[in-house]
Amino acid sequence: MAVYLNNAATTWPKPEPVARAVYDFMTRAGANLARGAAAKRDIGTMDMVMSCREKIASLFGGHENADPRYVTFASNVTEALNIVLKGFLKPGMRVLTTSMEHNASMRPLRRLESQGVVVTVLECDPEGILSLEDLRGTLENDRYDMMVLTHASNVCGTVQDLEGIAGVCSGYGLNLVLDSAQTAGILPIDMTALNLAALCFTGHKGLMGPQGIGGVVWRPDFAEETACFVEGGTGSYSHLEFHPDKLPDKFEAGTPNLPGIAGLGSALDWLADEGMDAIRKREHELGQRLLNGLGTLPGLRLAGKRTMDGRLPVIAVNFEGADNGILASELVDRAGIETRPGLHCAPTAHRTLGTFPQGALRLSPGYFNTEADIDVCLGTLAEILKIPAK
Ligand code: ALA
Repeated sequence: MAVYLNNAATTWPKPEPVARAVYDFMTRAGANLARGAAAKRDIGTMDMVMSCREKIASLFGGHENADPRYVTFASNVTEALNIVLKGFLKPGMRVLTTSMEHNASMRPLRRLESQGVVVTVLECDPEGILSLEDLRGTLENDRYDMMVLTHASNVCGTVQDLEGIAGVCSGYGLNLVLDSAQTAGILPIDMTALNLAALCFTGHKGLMGPQGIGGVVWRPDFAEETACFVEGGTGSYSHLEFHPDKLPDKFEAGTPNLPGIAGLGSALDWLADEGMDAIRKREHELGQRLLNGLGTLPGLRLAGKRTMDGRLPVIAVNFEGADNGILASELVDRAGIETRPGLHCAPTAHRTLGTFPQGALRLSPGYFNTEADIDVCLGTLAEILKIPAK
């Protein structure tokens, strides 16, 4: 039986109702979206998709009646960020980001830079925190069109002061785009109160849905200003050879991942029943147990924050004289413990944390882990490192 400690890559297992919703859609519901004869099953698919849009809109929009048209479905947070960045930024525009970003935003930004967009990367401190003073100073000296920020690091779990950063951005009239890959479903985010221009999310991490579904929640004026990135059939305005500019169709083309949307809708119900606070509390406890135990192992080099304050239970470590890739293989081979070593698609974050180029062994417990899982991991690490178990 696997001991799964790689929840930062994707949460696992998924709640039973999520898998059932995907199965039911594929075996019973199954009609395409807006591409039928308004049969009962066609209407059922439209209802299912609209209801998922509504749940996402109210989860992030700050109120129950947030407008579901401003929810765009995409395959994942990477596609969502590409839709926003490549749709909004034009040569000559200026964008600000941080050294803790994932390649999901860093790579599209570097592509855009090669096409004439000016990209400025603000250096975070060795715990991965962006200084509000640095941000203010930068905005005082230059005009920017957008800031892209990852809410929490996928490498070491450091959570940025989103409220503070959003306040500074609002003060300078700067469009703030949030990458919520690691925090959606874990930390409450009210994009209306924060005045976010766009929030990019993935469904398969904290939201507990299947892989292959994610999206964007837009501030209406920002959605109007952003050009569509993918064009094609929408099941609407079929007489037009140009892509419609009405949302949600503006940013969606082709048949969407309907089983994924069905699963995500069910995951959002599960999340509401279970309660985000309860999930966060439980994950925090497991993270604390892991951190305490790691602290007893000699040769430990912890990346990022020292304690569980201001972080998620995403813990990146190295051990003196041990290769993190070999450690990860040994954990799997000896006790079926699944982790993720290496650079985690975030080389600049590792540079900031002082763990480039070797990377780190990342241990990320999730809601369905037990204390026993953490103890097995700690005991196996001690065994591999040839330290007598406590
Ligand atoms: N971005 C994901 C990770 O950190 C997949 O592993």
